[in-house]
Amino acid sequence: MMAAKARISAAILLVCIILPLLASAFLDHLPEFLEHDSRNKDVTIRGDNNIVRANDNDFTLPRSHEKKNERSLREKKSKKKKHKKKKNKKGKKSHKDKIFDFDHIFGGNQQEGDEFSPYLQPFDVPQTTEEQEQTENYDGLREGFYQKTCPQAENIIRNGLIRAFQNDSTIAAALPRLLLHDCFVNGCDGSILLDTTPSGARVEKLAGTNGATVKGFELIDEIKAELERQCPGIVSCSDILAYLSRDAFVLSGLPNYNVLGGRRDGMESNEANVVGNLPLPGDTVDQMIDLFQKKGLNSEDLVVLIGAHSIGVAHCFNFLYRLDEPEKAQMLDPRLAGVMRFICTNQMNTLPFDPTTQYKMDSIFYKQLMMKKGLIESDQILAQDIRTRGLVQKFGDDEMGWFDKFGKAMNKLGAIEVLTGNQGQIRRQCRAVN
Ligand code: HEM
Repeated sequence: MMAAKARISAAILLVCIILPLLASAFLDHLPEFLEHDSRNKDVTIRGDNNIVRANDNDFTLPRSHEKKNERSLREKKSKKKKHKKKKNKKGKKSHKDKIFDFDHIFGGNQQEGDEFSPYLQPFDVPQTTEEQEQTENYDGLREGFYQKTCPQAENIIRNGLIRAFQNDSTIAAALPRLLLHDCFVNGCDGSILLDTTPSGARVEKLAGTNGATVKGFELIDEIKAELERQCPGIVSCSDILAYLSRDAFVLSGLPNYNVLGGRRDGMESNEANVVGNLPLPGDTVDQMIDLFQKKGLNSEDLVVLIGAHSIGVAHCFNFLYRLDEPEKAQMLDPRLAGVMRFICTNQMNTLPFDPTTQYKMDSIFYKQLMMKKGLIESDQILAQDIRTRGLVQKFGDDEMGWFDKFGKAMNKLGAIEVLTGNQGQIRRQCRAVN
């Protein structure tokens, strides 16, 4: 009788107390577990955003979930970090900590309004004469353009990004994409930022290839407002975008590089100019090389710049079709295909280009292309085509070599059909011409 009573009590204890405790501990650590998992496996889903989004039909809802989850993950990480610091008597920082250590990244605790920007005292290698000549030849753009007229400009821009990044780490990847879409359509003139134009034409940002996949406009508005308060009528919207893109890459782990300034803003923006001027995920290598050539970029620049896909995400509608055609599916790692099927219950869901280090600029992206783990078709075929495969392999094996070329290629991209001197204008606000 006594033994039966003891067994019943033990069962009650197990069901009511121990099991719930175990379940809650498991749920609590699930995001960390998944993130850890994503580092060890070849292709995995980041627990902090995709799980919540897998079955959602509404695009706006999951994003707020995503932020919350990211925030809670960050809080956990920061607790972990503190714990680690205590443990590490020498106080050495891990590489991952360095990525989000803004002072370390940007070379000092600069404040808005400080006289010298760390960018004006670059910590990368001095330029050769040949490189100097090259930079001076970029259609009137030059380094340190605002050194005399608005010395705090680059700091204001950088600090704006850091503030935004602390709330939403996906902002870093959004900015270079915005620059690309600005520069390839009518040159780097800030036309993608316009909401209206004097001609009344439908603006570029409304085009299908832009639409829901471009963002970052509010951050640019905030930075522009601050710049207008401190240096009215000096810094163009197109330059803000160029500096922001560099800062986004540096924040993501790329070594610093100097950005050429001096662009002026355009007064037109027309949706009709977008068609045929932006690269598409279904483009062939011929089409990509042709398009880049038209913009003054060669095939090496193409492969160098595609490394920007080391950060950021793509929506399912940009890659899910690859599963439907056997020929295309062949170019796809079967495990990645499985992940696509699992996540893409809704075309507006997203997957990271590089699931192992989604927020970090590194050469892992190229290595994955060599293993058929490219998310979008246009990236993957660069690792297949005889003209580009060697470069994909090379940059995968030589991260520093790729880093070195990246800043130069970005300055080439940022110099496409720019307005300088007396051309265009300096907009007072980026969404409308003066
Ligand atoms: C052949 C050339 C290219 C093609 C076909 C291409 C295509 C795409 C596509 C389809 C996406 C996903 C958009 C979405 O679904 O939200 C994307 C994202 C992105 N692209 Fe490209 N791209 C190209 C070149 C570039 C270049 C040259 C850069 C930068 C210099 C760049 C930077 C980015 C970034 C950072 C993202 C992530 C955006 C985010 O997460 O918000 N891309 N690109």
